[in-house]
Amino acid sequence: MTVSSTMLDGAQDAPSARAAAAVGQASNSIRFDGVTVAYRGTVVLDHLTLEVRPGEILALIGPSGSGKTTALRAVAGFVRPASGRIHIGDVEVTHLPPYARGIGMVVQNYALFPHMRVTENVSFGLRAQGASRDLIADRVRECLRIVGMESYAHRYPRELSGGQQQRVAIARALAIQPRVLLLDEPLSALDAQIRRSMVEELARLHRDLPDLTVLYVTHDQSEALTLADSIAVMRDGRLHAHGPTGPLYQTPPNRFAAEFLGRANLLPVVIEDAGYASPLAQVRIGGLVLSATPNRSLDKGAQALLCVRPHALSLSPRPDHDNVLPTTVHEVLWQGDQHVVTVEVAGTVLRVVSPPLRQPPAIGSTLDLHFAAVDASLLPDEDHP
Ligand SMILES: Nc1ncnc2c1ncn2[C@@H]1O[C@H](COP(=O)(O)OP(=O)(O)OP(=O)(O)O)[C@@H](O)[C@H]1O
Ligand SMILES: [Mg+2]
Repeated sequence: MTVSSTMLDGAQDAPSARAAAAVGQASNSIRFDGVTVAYRGTVVLDHLTLEVRPGEILALIGPSGSGKTTALRAVAGFVRPASGRIHIGDVEVTHLPPYARGIGMVVQNYALFPHMRVTENVSFGLRAQGASRDLIADRVRECLRIVGMESYAHRYPRELSGGQQQRVAIARALAIQPRVLLLDEPLSALDAQIRRSMVEELARLHRDLPDLTVLYVTHDQSEALTLADSIAVMRDGRLHAHGPTGPLYQTPPNRFAAEFLGRANLLPVVIEDAGYASPLAQVRIGGLVLSATPNRSLDKGAQALLCVRPHALSLSPRPDHDNVLPTTVHEVLWQGDQHVVTVEVAGTVLRVVSPPLRQPPAIGSTLDLHFAAVDASLLPDEDHP
């Protein structure tokens, strides 16, 4: 894979150079308008319409093969859409060559030039642009500082750990002062502990560079939830859900998004009152009525799924808990810092994550679960539309 738009040769033709300058001046959103990509007649990205707003981190998540990398490569210019348009800021880039798009890109397997020292790797794009020696020295120092690698400037990539190499790759992508940064699973080759600390570093980097727009491809939902301002969920080449991170997690629009964003308990219910005229919806499960966050696309009498995250179910009541749900205990697992309790209600198994319990419930016993209506969202039941 071509790894970076910074890997350009210096010979830009005049129209492309003008376009690049225009991209540089424009605001730095990324916009897909009905972008379709096909490989040998097979559509792998299907009319993608999506905007990454200026300065935000948008995480593109979805299962393997869902078209995430293809979408990112279309922005980078390594894949040509069969139809649709891509804009960076106000400039349409659909037909511009990669080097004229003003982007930085980092992929999962480091892809540093092995025969170049860290400094030379980071300065590569600037040298290709014919930048002055002083400017290059300043930018390289600044970018290595941003990723905390100043003291490694003279090392070769083989003398660095995986996490350090990936920091250098990020510094290299930042050196050309890209308007947008494209990251394709940049942490997936690292082990879990380094990944966690790199996630924190990326969050800090974004605080340092608030104007940088980031399209972040991952299939790790916790990375997406930690880093992203908004999340787009892909499935089979199509956009399945998109929204600000918190609300999307809290009130996912469909089952796929609910389950892809983390563990979700989905309880079949019947809509009693969709909440058109009241702040809360009412749903029925057997003889029991529960309150939930309204979903105005569901009508009275419709079958729906009540979605509650495992940690939102509590074994003891709090003043803000609107609901009590009697269940039967199936399994209790202690995991050191938490208890995972599996319960059953009306044929559905639910998972409860609780702080460690002094007296865990007995298997087979009855257990009341308590939860707030704001932590219970309603989804269409796709099996019973
Ligand atoms: N160069 C190519 N030629 C033919 N098919 C391709 C090519 N690149 C990708 N595909 C196909 O396009 C589909 C989408 O691939 P893509 O790499 O975008 O998925 P992804 O969501 O990034 O998956 P992963 O999480 O595994 O990286 C897949 O079915 C893949 O096999
Ligand atoms: Mg991919």
